Parts: sequence; C-alpha cells; structure tokens
Amino acid sequence: MIFLLVTCLAALLSHSVHGAGSSVDWCYHKPECNFTTWPNIASQFCNGSKQSPINIVTASVQENSKLTSFNFTGFDDNSTFISIANIGDSVVVNLDDDKMTVQGGDLPGVYNTKQFHLHWGNGSSSSGSEHTVDGKQYPMELHIVNVHSKYNGSVSAALAANDSTGLAVLGFFIEGTSEQSKPEGWDTLTSFLASIPNSGNTTTDIMNQITLDSLLEGVDRTKYYRYQGSLTTPNCNEVVIWTVFKEPIKVSQNLINRFSTTTYFKAASTSVLVTNNFRGVQPLNGRVVTSQVVKSTPPSSATTSTSSIITVLLLSTLCWLYI
Ligand SMILES: *[C@@H]1O[C@H](CO)[C@@H](O)[C@H](O)[C@H]1NC(C)=O
Ligand SMILES: *[C@@H]1O[C@H](CO)[C@@H](O)[C@H](O)[C@H]1NC(C)=O
Ligand SMILES: *[C@@H]1O[C@H](CO)[C@@H](O)[C@H](O)[C@H]1NC(C)=O
Ligand SMILES: *[C@@H]1O[C@H](CO)[C@@H](O)[C@H](O)[C@H]1NC(C)=O
Ligand SMILES: *[C@@H]1O[C@H](CO)[C@@H](O)[C@H](O)[C@H]1NC(C)=O
Ligand SMILES: *[C@@H]1O[C@H](CO)[C@@H](O)[C@H](O)[C@H]1NC(C)=O
Ligand SMILES: *[C@@H]1O[C@H](CO)[C@@H](O)[C@H](O)[C@H]1NC(C)=O
Ligand SMILES: *[C@@H]1O[C@H](CO)[C@@H](O)[C@H](O)[C@H]1NC(C)=O
Repeated sequence: MIFLLVTCLAALLSHSVHGAGSSVDWCYHKPECNFTTWPNIASQFCNGSKQSPINIVTASVQENSKLTSFNFTGFDDNSTFISIANIGDSVVVNLDDDKMTVQGGDLPGVYNTKQFHLHWGNGSSSSGSEHTVDGKQYPMELHIVNVHSKYNGSVSAALAANDSTGLAVLGFFIEGTSEQSKPEGWDTLTSFLASIPNSGNTTTDIMNQITLDSLLEGVDRTKYYRYQGSLTTPNCNEVVIWTVFKEPIKVSQNLINRFSTTTYFKAASTSVLVTNNFRGVQPLNGRVVTSQVVKSTPPSSATTSTSSIITVLLLSTLCWLYI
C-alpha cells in the first residue's frame, strides 16, 4: 500500500514537472520529437520568449546586491529521500517536502523542496548540462525543484496558476574528476541506477542513506546567477525563478558514466540508453542575468586614489611652473 502510494506520488510528481501535465509526445533522441520540434509540438509555452536553459554570458551579468545567501532546511537530513525513479527521460529523486525548504537569496517567500533530477550527455565522450557559461557545457546538471509554499506542495497548482514565481529551481553543474567513486553520496546515489533501468521503475531503498547536502559538497552556495525562465521540458511553462550556481559539484567520471550506461529511455520498440537528455540553449530576448556584487578590491581603489593624488600633484606643479 505504502509502496503503491509512493509509486503513484512519484509518477504524479515527475509527470507534473517533467511532463508538465502534457499529452505531447516529446523526446530527446528522435528527430520527430527532439527539442528542436518542441516549439511546434508544444507551442503554448515552448515557443515563449522566456525559455530555459540559456547561455550565461559572464560579461553581460549585472550586479544585484539583493542576492544574499539561502537558508536550506532539511538538506542535512537523510530521511528526506523518498524514492528514486526512472521517468523515461531522466532520473528523479522524490524528496519529503514537509521536511525540506529553501528561502532567502531574494526568493519571494518560502519554497518547499519537491524533487531533484539530472541532465547528462554521454559519459566522458560528450557533455550534457542544460545551462552553459560563456559557451562552456558541463558533463551534467542537477536541478532541485522547489514550489512556493502558497501552493501547498503542489507543482501542478503552480503550473496552473501560470505564476512566474511559482517554482524556484536550483541548478548545479557537475564536473568530472579522475579519482574513483567520489564523493560517497554520489557513489551511493548512482548505485541505485542499476535497480531502475527501465521507464517507470522506482525504488524506495534509497531512504535514510543520503542527504542533499552530501550531494552538493564543496560548492559555495552564496555564489550564483539569477534569471527568470521556464521548465526545460514540455510544456516549458514560464514559471521558474532560476538560480544557477557558479561552482560545479565535482564527481568522479566513473560515477558520471553510470547514468548514460545504465538507464533506458521510455521504450517504444527497442531499448535505447538515456544519453544527451538536455534541451539546447534558448534566446535571452532581453532578459538580464544577475549575480552577487563583486566587492572592489582594496589594491585597485588604493591605486585609483594614488593615481588621482599624483594627477593633482602633477597639475599643481604645472600650474605653479606656468605661473
Ligand atoms: C533534432 O531533430 C532535427 C530534425 O527534426 C535534426 O535536424 C537535429 O539534428 C536533431 N537535433 C538533436 C540535438 O538531436
Ligand atoms: C512562435 O512564435 C513566433 C513569434 O511570436 C511566431 O512567429 C511563430 O509562428 C510561433 N510558432 C509556433 C509554432 O507557434
Ligand atoms: C536565515 O536563517 C538565519 C539564521 O537562522 C536568520 O537570521 C535569517 O533571518 C534567515 N533568513 C531568511 C531569509 O529566512
Ligand atoms: C555514447 O558513447 C558510447 C561509447 O563511447 C557510444 O558507443 C555511443 O554510440 C554513444 N551514444 C550516442 C547517442 O552518442
Ligand atoms: C493551501 O492551504 C491553505 C490552508 O489549508 C488553503 O487556504 C489554500 O487554499 C491552499 N492553496 C492551494 C493552492 O491549494
Ligand atoms: C502566462 O503569463 C504570462 C505573463 O507572465 C502571459 O504573458 C501569458 O499570456 C500567460 N499565459 C497563459 C496561458 O495564461
Ligand atoms: C522495470 O520496468 C520494466 C518495464 O516496464 C518491468 O518489466 C520491470 O518489472 C520493472 N522492474 C522493476 C524492478 O520494477
Ligand atoms: C541517517 O541519519 C541518522 C540520524 O542522523 C543517522 O543515525 C544514520 O546513521 C544516518 N544513516 C546513514 C546511512 O548515514
């Protein structure tokens, strides 16, 4: 009974975020339904002007002093991982949103943390992050999906409201390292992939073993980009306040490889491994990406004041000589 409930919940949650209540048959790996076709097959939002992901051009990022640190609740609690599921186009971990919230960081209120999922390329041979920075694509990207507390934990309610602040997604880049099977949290997480090779497979064995903090190890969570965008899968609803952290999570290449060698896309006739499950970058259309104010360093201000003093002295000397 509990298993059924969790399975049903997992299917519902993943569907509402990933399928977005969509009847559209979209995909990543076939020409008739890959992301280049989404503006046609799900035109209501996928053809919008505030779509995600984007390429972040660091030279165009504007400073925003309101982008303070976040308060994360329950990220250090290993009883929050309810289940891990293969949803046919990605792997989703459903989280206990009664225990997990995110606030601060200029978000307009408290957000309940619902789930996280991943986007990847093809192991070491090709990158698969969704956002890029100055054109750089990382091997993988982790998305933590949070819904504004006014929706009582219902992602579909936030989508139905077409509320531009309905969801807050936290994006983390993942970079490969050559050491074996590190960090431990990622080794444990990826060990469950073998239990969920096919679309619809899910397991609750993941409970009480991993904290979300352990998966974000080593990342300075006070340094991030912020912009207004959308879900990166149909129906591409423009309801997301995006936070993309600057520092990548460092994960062993052998663990990154597990994703593209273990899980299969929603089967039609033949099984195809999930690879390159990312949407390509979308036009900014005038949107502005902001980030923390970079403090001016003392040496440069000292140099400035020193040079102004020298200029004043020089001018005074010239004046004196002229007189
Ligand atoms: C998507 O499909 C189109 C044809 O509809 C093809 O030209 C393109 O290369 C494909 N892109 C990807 C990333 O698969
Ligand atoms: C997408 O939007 C553009 C600009 O608004 C419009 O010209 C085009 O017809 C739309 N395409 C679809 C498939 O709705
Ligand atoms: C974050 O937590 C700190 C310490 O508990 C508290 O002082 C601060 O008001 C909180 N900020 C937000 C935005 O909740
Ligand atoms: C992914 O990489 C493997 C091994 O390098 C290769 O055999 C396979 O064809 C690649 N798949 C795609 C979709 O590029
Ligand atoms: C959330 O719960 C509150 C209190 O139970 C209720 O007033 C409100 O209508 C609910 N909102 C949604 C979107 O379900
Ligand atoms: C959704 O909201 C945007 C503004 O945020 C608006 O332009 C658009 O028409 C709305 N779409 C629907 C279907 O309500
Ligand atoms: C995984 O999904 C496949 C295909 O639907 C199914 O045959 C199999 O029984 C499932 N395995 C588990 C462990 O749920
Ligand atoms: C999970 O957390 C509990 C309580 O903090 C702790 O006793 C337990 O050892 C943790 N389990 C693992 C596998 O880390």
